[in-house]
Amino acid sequence: MLEPAPSGSHVFYRKLTRRYPHIVRGDGCYLYDDGGRRYLDAVGGAFVANLGHGLRPLAEAIGNQAQNFAYLNGTAFTHSPVEEFAAELAALCPGDLDLVYPLGSGSEAVEAALKLARQYWVESGQSGRRKILSFVPGYHGNTLLALSASARAHYTTYFREWLVDVARVPAPYAYRCACRGKPPLCPACSGDALEEVILREGPDTIAAFIGEPVGGSSTGATVPAPEYWRRVREICDRHSVLFVADEVLTGAGRTGTWSALEPYGVVPDIMTLGKGIAAGTVPLSAVVAPRRIVDALAHGSGSLLHAQTFSHHPVLCAAGLATLRYLREHRLVERCSRMGRVFHQRLEVFRELPLVGDVRGRGLLAGIEFVADPASREPLPRSAGMAEAFTGAALEAGLVVWPNVGHADGTNGDLAMLAPPFIVTEEQIEEIVSLFTRALRTAADRIGAAR
Ligand SMILES: Cc1ncc(COP(=O)(O)O)c(C=O)c1O
Repeated sequence: MLEPAPSGSHVFYRKLTRRYPHIVRGDGCYLYDDGGRRYLDAVGGAFVANLGHGLRPLAEAIGNQAQNFAYLNGTAFTHSPVEEFAAELAALCPGDLDLVYPLGSGSEAVEAALKLARQYWVESGQSGRRKILSFVPGYHGNTLLALSASARAHYTTYFREWLVDVARVPAPYAYRCACRGKPPLCPACSGDALEEVILREGPDTIAAFIGEPVGGSSTGATVPAPEYWRRVREICDRHSVLFVADEVLTGAGRTGTWSALEPYGVVPDIMTLGKGIAAGTVPLSAVVAPRRIVDALAHGSGSLLHAQTFSHHPVLCAAGLATLRYLREHRLVERCSRMGRVFHQRLEVFRELPLVGDVRGRGLLAGIEFVADPASREPLPRSAGMAEAFTGAALEAGLVVWPNVGHADGTNGDLAMLAPPFIVTEEQIEEIVSLFTRALRTAADRIGAAR
């Protein structure tokens, strides 16, 4: 087991009771620590390093831009990195989504997207539209508006009084809903639940509905039914509710198409992207919106009231541009789709392992849900700490995964997610399967649940 953080360090760590391996080098899908240990980064850190580690063309693009000019004030100048990044990104986004507002983190993009929705309605003369609707479970970030939109109770423990009310729509989480994803679909899985909430809240009071097109960590890579998002689009259109697709985790090719919404043939009103759009070389996110929405501001107040010092940043945009070009030139989204099929075929063996209730996902995104009893789907008690035990055992085995807890009922629920870089090979997929299996047996043993 890893020991507590060393007392000599001045770093205010995210986990204050854990000792972190000290990474000194990254190369492709692997990381190396100062003791020479190798880790297979099977989740790109946090669904971010989509192209692997140590990629020279990206580093050069960043270095060259930093050497030329690193920073410009976003209210004073424009520049080629932002113009070219926006043009490339707009060409990848569906329908009329063609104006790009670059920011840093996913939370910032969500904040800005929701403010844009609200500002749009006020500037269009419908100031009564102020409510936000979002999924439960769901996650959209950790700043206060994004956290308000997130149904993740344990993140809000100390801050509830600071959050705004957001009406919740049951997520299409087939593994844990009444219909289990099989027709006839329950209201959560068909989309009818969204309309019920809109009617209950009053359509004229609603600014926007925000949702992840394919589940991120909150529902562990759950893929909604094929007709789900078309139904959501219809409902939003009928009640003039703006549909914000949060593709921070699932976008940039992660599910085998540029956006996770793409296979559904649906265009949202606003899209947020983050994580993988600069492949983790820098923090970069974006709000992508159509002119019909932005024009309401252009003809009204004249700007989105979400100024941030580091928006439209030249170096960050240069990193994003280099990433988008690299993805295109090396056909990596197509590779993600192709390798995703191999990946999911191989992950099926996990169904035979102790405590595995479900294995799901699309492209190179997978969620493995752990349960006390696969037949009844009863979650493990939170006190067992399965997600934590598994993540620790995986790290010891040399495998980096992403855990999530609380999705089953707000408190209980354990899952692990995998999202290897798009360059992952079949041999590395075998290695993931083997290390995962070993870690799961260790974790089951540690929590006293081995069969
Ligand atoms: C769907 C989704 N939206 C927003 C965010 C917030 O992004 P960030 O952590 O970069 O602020 C995340 C982060 O995990 C996410 O998964």
